[in-house]
Amino acid sequence: MNHFGHIQQELREQQKKWLISGCAGFIGSNLLETLLKLDQTVVGLDNFSTGYQHNLNEVEELVGSKRWGRFSFIKGDIRDLGTCQEAVQGIDYVLHQAALGSVPRSLKDPITTNDVNINGFLNMLVAARDAAVTSFVYAASSSTYGDHPGLPKVEDRIGKPLSPYAVTKYVNELYAEVFARCYEFRTIGLRYFNVFGKRQDPNGAYAAVIPKWIAAMIRNEEIFINGDGETSRDFCFVENAVQANLLAATTSADNRNEVYNVAVSDITSLNELVGILKSTLRKKGIPYEKEIAYRAFRDGDVRHSQADISKSLQRLGYAPEYRISEGIETAMQWYMGQSQK
Ligand SMILES: NC(=O)c1ccc[n+]([C@@H]2O[C@H](COP(=O)([O-])OP(=O)(O)OC[C@H]3O[C@@H](n4cnc5c(N)ncnc54)[C@H](O)[C@@H]3O)[C@@H](O)[C@H]2O)c1
Repeated sequence: MNHFGHIQQELREQQKKWLISGCAGFIGSNLLETLLKLDQTVVGLDNFSTGYQHNLNEVEELVGSKRWGRFSFIKGDIRDLGTCQEAVQGIDYVLHQAALGSVPRSLKDPITTNDVNINGFLNMLVAARDAAVTSFVYAASSSTYGDHPGLPKVEDRIGKPLSPYAVTKYVNELYAEVFARCYEFRTIGLRYFNVFGKRQDPNGAYAAVIPKWIAAMIRNEEIFINGDGETSRDFCFVENAVQANLLAATTSADNRNEVYNVAVSDITSLNELVGILKSTLRKKGIPYEKEIAYRAFRDGDVRHSQADISKSLQRLGYAPEYRISEGIETAMQWYMGQSQK
């Protein structure tokens, strides 16, 4: 059994109380599903700004009513300190996911992104510190690498941020470090790289590329690539991110006050991604033959992104179980189901 297997077994034997902020969102609802399946007690906090009640309903259906009974939900905003203080009461492990994602959203509305991602983060940090939770794990971002040209990305070599969103995620890391220095409150930041999987929203102006393209391809609509298609990413299936969260929450204190890359260390260009999506859909009996439309490069986007995951491997015992094609194959079933709703 690998390290993650042991951690899951330990959790099954010993029920802990978790708080997931942003639990009605994509990554949050996947964390919720896994934790409830492991018979954990979970408190969820979300204001439904980009998350959905239907994500929670789907998890309820998947875990069954007995396990769902271990979940309680607070509809509230992390910008309110009192709400954060209420949410952290009696919590062992915090998985802080609530934030406004998307680089283009932050370019359009830097004030709200700043308010949620920095002020909200600080509220959560203060509340968790005061409640003396065992562990505080937060969603950091690969956008923190900014304009640093080095590949693969190593945790301690970052550049200048390229968007307001990237600034907010970097400020999270700075606050986390200062809280360790000033209050001995040690946290873990997980720098996610382009996470994808079921329950990732395919709709709206700020949808991520994989769900947006899959939904369009299933409807046989045209898809657009920003740039020449050679922009590349280290796409990470959500189950890998879930694993990293559980490992980070339960790791020893020596491994805290650190940030870790969460990815696969694969590099896939957008043109290659189109090929993977097309071939997966073809196998499911949905051929997609439309020409791809190329548009201008998008502001704030980094050109290439690939993680060095040695630190997560060595210190957290992280071992990603899904590469991109396996993740797409698994997620496709869900997206096909969605298109029939
Ligand atoms: N998906 C990715 O590829 C990726 C990459 C890097 C970092 N991240 C980070 O991971 C986290 C989760 O992202 P996601 O992809 O699941 O996004 P998501 O939008 O699906 O989930 C975010 C959740 O936070 C909630 N939320 C937002 N503002 C809130 C507020 N003020 N109070 C309470 N709840 C609030 C939303 O309603 C939503 O349910 C975010 O912090 C994001 O910045 C995601």
